[in-house]
Amino acid sequence: MQAFSRVEALRAQLAAWRREGARIALVPTMGNLHEGHLELVRQAAREAERVVVSIFVNPTQFAPGEDFASYPRTPDADRQALAREGVDAVFLPVEAEVYPLGRAAATRVSIPALMDDLCGRSRPGHFEGVATVVLRLLNMVGPDVAVFGQKDYQQQLVIRHLVRDLNIPTRILVAPTSREDDGLARSSRNQYLEPAERAQAPALYAALRAVADGLAEGGRSPASLCAAAVATLRDAGFEPEYVELRDAATLAPADPARRPLVVLAAARLGRARLIDNLLIA
Ligand code: PAF
Repeated sequence: MQAFSRVEALRAQLAAWRREGARIALVPTMGNLHEGHLELVRQAAREAERVVVSIFVNPTQFAPGEDFASYPRTPDADRQALAREGVDAVFLPVEAEVYPLGRAAATRVSIPALMDDLCGRSRPGHFEGVATVVLRLLNMVGPDVAVFGQKDYQQQLVIRHLVRDLNIPTRILVAPTSREDDGLARSSRNQYLEPAERAQAPALYAALRAVADGLAEGGRSPASLCAAAVATLRDAGFEPEYVELRDAATLAPADPARRPLVVLAAARLGRARLIDNLLIA
């Protein structure tokens, strides 16, 4: 596996692979890789002959007061894990490579229709930061396909919108959420949970399933099902931010007669902010 910190050197290698006829897949990450990331890497390897993984803890997607400084950084373990997976290149850019004119002068990407709702309500600027860095990474690597996880449901919709609207020639692939055996969605932030909180954490996914089951049974409105899920989470020790049933393609409020829908939730548990979602096809 080759490691690059400069885009110019990475591009020279990518051009050589392209001359050999290889397709390129990109898996953008913020590092601290876990099994969920490795599943994205395996998906990428099924789609293209060469796999590039980027590791960059993007400062612009952390809202003020969030965990940018303390976000877990484990570059050595990440590189070992990626080498074991047979990844061709890891791209570890320094900030000046990603934001060459500086953060204050950076061109930003805004999609107000998708960014201000749900997680955007409690994380101002977060999705603008995500879209801004993903556009940069796609421009730097020029991949045929880029792979993201379904756990960040609103994020993948933002990225699909960006790619379609700006006519970026990259196919966006979204891999199913990777879960622990007890249902908890894998996330780097799960390590912020104390043992007792970790034992409670699967209640988030259970609450989503309860909304989906209630909808299938019929007779209750989305609002009452989501309110019940919020109450269950509060009883289980969470501080719920939202549980919402939405149109899966647009995130508009759900029409219970239409499919596909998605039920999404965000809740704090101790030091961790957890998110999860469940598609209702
Ligand atoms: O999902 C993530 O890890 C990040 O939001 C991403 C897509 C790598 C952008 O920094």
